Amino acid sequence: MTPQTAQQPPVPAGQPHFYYKDGQLYVESVPLADLAKTYGTPLYVYSRAALRAAWQSYADAIGSRKVLVCFGMKANSNLAIIDEFARLGSGFDIVSGGELARVLAVGGDPSKVVFSGVGKQVWEMEQALQAGVKCFNVESVPELQRLSEVAVRMGKIAPVSLRVNPDVDAQTHPYISTGLKENKFGIAIEVALAAYAQATRLPGLRVVGVDCHIGSQITEVSPYLDALDKLLDLMAALKKEGVELAHLDLGGGLGIRYDDETPLAPVTLLTAVFERLQARGLAHLQLVLEPGRSLVGNAGVLLTDVQYLKHTEDRDFAIVDAGMNDLMRPALYDAWHGVLPVVLSDVAPVVYEVVGPVCESADWLAHDRQLRISQGDTLAIESAGAYGFVMAGHYNSRGRPAEVLVDGSDWHLVRQRETFEDLIRGEQMLPR
Ligand code: LLP
Repeated sequence: MTPQTAQQPPVPAGQPHFYYKDGQLYVESVPLADLAKTYGTPLYVYSRAALRAAWQSYADAIGSRKVLVCFGMKANSNLAIIDEFARLGSGFDIVSGGELARVLAVGGDPSKVVFSGVGKQVWEMEQALQAGVKCFNVESVPELQRLSEVAVRMGKIAPVSLRVNPDVDAQTHPYISTGLKENKFGIAIEVALAAYAQATRLPGLRVVGVDCHIGSQITEVSPYLDALDKLLDLMAALKKEGVELAHLDLGGGLGIRYDDETPLAPVTLLTAVFERLQARGLAHLQLVLEPGRSLVGNAGVLLTDVQYLKHTEDRDFAIVDAGMNDLMRPALYDAWHGVLPVVLSDVAPVVYEVVGPVCESADWLAHDRQLRISQGDTLAIESAGAYGFVMAGHYNSRGRPAEVLVDGSDWHLVRQRETFEDLIRGEQMLPR
């Protein structure tokens, strides 16, 4: 029997799919410790039930309204994950030819794909036109011109939305705020009318929509509504010029709970948005959303083993086997991720700096965390399902972690741990 511990188990961010039972952290019906033992660490673990629940919260909020959810797959593009969303009926927001190839690899429907990004290359445009994507979210006038040329050359017409930069403050971290004037994204709202006029004159294009994405980890509805109002004003001006749009894309950005945030629920956003659309007589419009983080963030954790507990005069370090190359968010954005022991213990609590093995001072995962841990314990870094594995790299010649998807009491290895051969594939020494 598991010994009773005096401490109250913490409440995982990914609940109810991640929870403590008898001192052990579970995902669905599987103790995370079992997965760490089977596959080693660092290890990304996702919950299928959590993915479905996140999807369902959008589906419930949408009801019978005309909304297309295009999963912002930059948040997590593992084939198993995007396959699951494709099966649930999701479209995809892509930002590269590589992401489109992934969608096609799982049999995703290209007519539900929107193609975002400021730097689309000719080959990516060709590939997307060939596949027949729903829409190109165009971010500049030179991109409009290039896309038209490519389409004409291929004997095709490219469906386009302009990604408008509405100059609203998403009230989030500056690195993930994208709707302000100073950001590189989108076409400034003041010149959008002129850009649309240009788009309608270009022979290879068909104007179908308008798009914006104001940032990420947004927890308030007001920035969305500010952006929406500006887009609706633009649409009204376009209508006067004879340009009618079929869809309005509000991007992604809904936040999740990492620490004590109160996330913005899809139902709150959609209720408010449809109220405005109704008020403007635009309820017939198709709404497109591009959520990434809110569909996957709290469906995943990163498991990591404590290699050493190092006590210095200044600080106590828990040196773990996951580093900034495996989970970059803390180093890059100062991001806060919960740290949970996979098995609760009664050792005395100590305040730790949780750091990785990479040779950089920025290689930390969590600051100042009170933990009851010993060398060899496994920790779960929470809320790692979004922008976790996808941002992982090979720095210090470290192979990227394996990924496991849990389904009830079952699980599937959905990506093998990288080996040394994987790391050096394509490299060559100079001739001797
Ligand atoms: N659509 C566009 C055009 C985007 O640029 C993004 C995210 C999304 C949708 C999805 O946004 P979400 O729903 O996930 O907030 N690496 C950062 C986040 C970067 C977000 C980039 N764009 C992080 O780890 O916080």
